Amino acid sequence: MRESVVRVGWVVGVGLLCVMPFVILVLFAVATSARAQDAPRSPQYVGVEKCGVCHKSEKQGRQFVIWQASPHAKAWAELATPEALKIAKAKGIDDPQKSEKCARCHTTGYGVDAKLKAETFKVEEGVGCEVCHGPGSNYKTMKIMKDKSLAMQNGLIIPDEKTCVKCHNAESPTYKKFVFAEFYKQITHPIPKEAGK
Ligand code: HEC
Ligand code: HEC
Ligand code: HEC
Ligand code: HEC
Repeated sequence: MRESVVRVGWVVGVGLLCVMPFVILVLFAVATSARAQDAPRSPQYVGVEKCGVCHKSEKQGRQFVIWQASPHAKAWAELATPEALKIAKAKGIDDPQKSEKCARCHTTGYGVDAKLKAETFKVEEGVGCEVCHGPGSNYKTMKIMKDKSLAMQNGLIIPDEKTCVKCHNAESPTYKKFVFAEFYKQITHPIPKEAGK
């Protein structure tokens, strides 16, 4: 009788010893994930399609549709045209899409850490929404988007001329004199006055 009690004690003791590391691991994982949730996450580039989900309708102002028809949407593809290859060749560049000297102005979030690009992001989108409005992972939810100041706290940028001249400047090999009012007119995508208000 006493022997079997001792044996049971042994089994329980050894069992606990085996389980302990896992218990500690789980506790540790829970603690770290809680901490990760507390810290504000670095905003990621989510790609134009994500914005398009809400910014496509007539009522919202069809920003996505207007953008798709704009030169910015084909900025990446442009780098594969014969004209681009010719410009590049003269500068000793073989593939403009692979060269920082061209790609930095022809796509979104060029050169940022790969971790800051969500799986939904595609380099082919060219000059997308987030070039001008900031990476959207933290502000793109309906609750935040509906509150302009909350959206801005979460990274939404209301761009102006300074945003444009990061690319529209004499470092562009095909530079056309940039006049904000004129250029902006060609890409404007306002929310209709009556929308949601
Ligand atoms: C879940 C739906 C939703 C998604 C996704 C979304 N938006 Fe919005 N966005 C809205 C709504 C709703 C408004 C507010 C419209 C209004 O004020 O009438 C808004 C407003 C805006 C505004 C105007 C802010 C202001 O008040 O001046 C900008 C700029 C904007 N969104 C950009 C983006 C970009 C860029 C993305 C993608 C990263 C995006 N949105 C994704 C729903 C969305
Ligand atoms: C990330 C770089 C970048 C930024 C920022 C940018 N653009 Fe552009 N833009 C381009 C590129 C690249 C093209 C050429 C696209 C093509 O033709 O394939 C272009 C073309 C244009 C064109 C057409 C010009 C033409 O001659 O046909 C207009 C208009 C324009 N942009 C307006 C603006 C405005 C307004 C802003 C700021 C609100 C802006 N862009 C910000 C890169 C940029
Ligand atoms: C400083 C930003 C910038 C860099 C760097 C850049 N581009 Fe562009 N690219 C633009 C802008 C902005 C436009 C729109 C027209 C303009 O103002 O030049 C454009 C337009 C173009 C066009 C369309 C031509 C047209 O008339 O609209 C081609 C082709 C092109 N770029 C090729 C290249 C190649 C090839 C390289 C690298 C050797 C390059 N770009 C580097 C900003 C840039
Ligand atoms: C080349 C830069 C550029 C790109 C790309 C761009 N926008 Fe904008 N966007 C602007 C500028 C500039 C304004 C005007 C800001 C202001 O109100 O002064 C604006 C305004 C807006 C507004 C508010 C309009 C209003 O009436 O208040 C919305 C919504 C918006 N953009 C959504 C988008 C979405 C969605 C995309 C992508 C599909 C996009 N934008 C792409 C530059 C850009």
